[in-house]
Amino acid sequence: MEAAMTRRGIVFPSLVLMLTCAMLLMIPEVSATRFIVGGNQGWTSNVNYTIWAKDKHFYKDDWLFFVYDRNQMNVLEVNKTDYETCNSDHPIHSWTTGAGRDVVPLNVTRHYYFISGKGFCYGGMKLAINVVNPPPPPMAAPATNKNGSPSDSGNQILTRSVLAFAAVWTFLFHFY
Ligand SMILES: *[C@@H]1O[C@H](CO)[C@@H](O)[C@H](O)[C@H]1NC(C)=O
Ligand SMILES: *[C@@H]1O[C@H](CO)[C@@H](O)[C@H](O)[C@H]1NC(C)=O
Ligand SMILES: *[C@@H]1O[C@H](CO)[C@@H](O)[C@H](O)[C@H]1NC(C)=O
Repeated sequence: MEAAMTRRGIVFPSLVLMLTCAMLLMIPEVSATRFIVGGNQGWTSNVNYTIWAKDKHFYKDDWLFFVYDRNQMNVLEVNKTDYETCNSDHPIHSWTTGAGRDVVPLNVTRHYYFISGKGFCYGGMKLAINVVNPPPPPMAAPATNKNGSPSDSGNQILTRSVLAFAAVWTFLFHFY
């Protein structure tokens, strides 16, 4: 009897930990994305960044990561006119730090225009993106179909919580 009591004293703090983990699993991920500009090719000539950006969604608080040859290129934020004409004489902001690895926080919902100076813009090193507000997370605005039943994402969350609680019960039976 006493042994069992002592055991419970160990099991209950563990149970609290398990429940905390289970609840964390139920929170949908709302994480910012860090885009490596140009993917594997990075920020360089002979890449069409219009095509690279075409199928991507840029949301507020995402990041752009420019990886490039620091001895040749740079990262300048310019306005629309200067983007179109490849004019690097008066950038809005130079994101160039000198390491060839520059991070740009997309913390405002607006159009952003980037070019490389030193003539590379004419070869296609230019990127235009539109940053918008992220869609609401599924928990905050649960989508329903025409019959008013929970959507697939709702079911997914339900499945995850059922699995998490099943894990807690397995844990309990194992110890008692
Ligand atoms: C961009 O900046 C240049 C120089 O400051 C200016 O002449 C031009 O009108 C600006 N374009 C836009 C779209 O703001
Ligand atoms: C966005 O980030 C830039 C650079 O870190 C910073 O200077 C600016 O204040 C930020 N703006 C907002 C609205 O957070
Ligand atoms: C990139 O591709 C787009 C769409 O195919 C095209 O309109 C544009 O001219 C290309 N840009 C360059 C610099 O080749």
